Amino acid sequence: MVMEKVMTFDVERIREDFPALKSMMHGKPLVYLDSAASSQKPEQVIAAMDQVYRTVYANVHRGVYTNSEVSTELYDQARAKIAHFINASTPEQVIFVRNATEALNLLAYSYGRHFLKEGDEVVLTQLEHHANFVPWLVLAQERGVKLKYIPLASDGTLDLSTLPELLTPRVKLVTFAHVSNVLGTITDPRLIIEPAHAIGARVIVDGCQAAPHMPVDVQELDCDFYAFSGHKMLGPTGIGVLYGKPELLDAMPPFLTGGDMINSVSMEGATWADVPAKFEAGTPAFVQAIGLGAAVDYLTALRMDAVREHERELVRYGLERLSELSGLTLLGPTDPSIRGGALSFTVKGIHPHDLGTLLDREGIAVRTGHHCAQPLHTCLGLTATARASFYIYNEPREVDALAEGIEKAKRVLHK
Ligand code: ALA
Repeated sequence: MVMEKVMTFDVERIREDFPALKSMMHGKPLVYLDSAASSQKPEQVIAAMDQVYRTVYANVHRGVYTNSEVSTELYDQARAKIAHFINASTPEQVIFVRNATEALNLLAYSYGRHFLKEGDEVVLTQLEHHANFVPWLVLAQERGVKLKYIPLASDGTLDLSTLPELLTPRVKLVTFAHVSNVLGTITDPRLIIEPAHAIGARVIVDGCQAAPHMPVDVQELDCDFYAFSGHKMLGPTGIGVLYGKPELLDAMPPFLTGGDMINSVSMEGATWADVPAKFEAGTPAFVQAIGLGAAVDYLTALRMDAVREHERELVRYGLERLSELSGLTLLGPTDPSIRGGALSFTVKGIHPHDLGTLLDREGIAVRTGHHCAQPLHTCLGLTATARASFYIYNEPREVDALAEGIEKAKRVLHK
């Protein structure tokens, strides 16, 4: 089997930028297939952060001296780059948070506790990551809010035919993953956003597995909120993004309070700074934000439509190659045009953790377990799966290495 389509960009050239991809694991060249958990970092991102630490580093928003002003300027530029990347109409709509988990918690605490009351309903889906489950479960327990779920169809997509029944007047919020971190399923957000808006509900999109991998235009989607993590898209850990519509961000109370998020403080009380500062209490992770800005520069130079095309072809090849292996069951849609870069599977008679351990010895890094999506695994009647996930630097030969590694593991464990 050969990969028929010529890659739209030069993967060998891209790989040169990623020092960690040149490393060895158990004496074998690293085959990194776990970018859905976290991506590797290019020299450009490492250098951007290194340069700040070595030169102009000083706390932002706090000094009138030059280095503080330069650090602030670089932080502001990073926000503008990210706003442009997702086509937000202004940089102020980009709130820096630690990761998508924090963005979703911010929404559950600030929007959820302020605007939802007992008897209101929140619609989720059965394929959510725990980050988009647990904050709503806690809110439901605390406030008597009811949770309802868009079910999974047998082909691994969401059964959107249930929407007319689910979207009752009590529904105030709908929240769902743009791309599933387990099944790879891409859900066209507009198919949920439009009917949700028609009944007056607000919509949150968890874009953690989408923003790194495909063009995202928040104005075109017309979502109310969009959340994603920097570390899955070439950026450092500790930085993520919450996009929100200005009128909603303005109406929401702060999530964390303290320095940098106030307008004024007296012994009697405090007033809040404007968005985005209102949601960025304390010294922000501004060096990480600058690193994420460099990551966005890198992805923009590659073009996000080309990134998507590259991954679609890798997934297509992965689906073909792995489906040739006896005893292997692939999960999720079979059509690569509605799949992101995650391929989860089980192998008959082999626990995913054993498989992951044997693949590790071949230098192949995959994730095993429930991938922070236990309710989804319960729906599938599984407790764990193995997952290979692709990004800009992966190549067809790595899919071949994975297939060969799985065959070797079967020989070792089934002999
Ligand atoms: N959300 C990350 C994953 O799916 C950690 O692996």
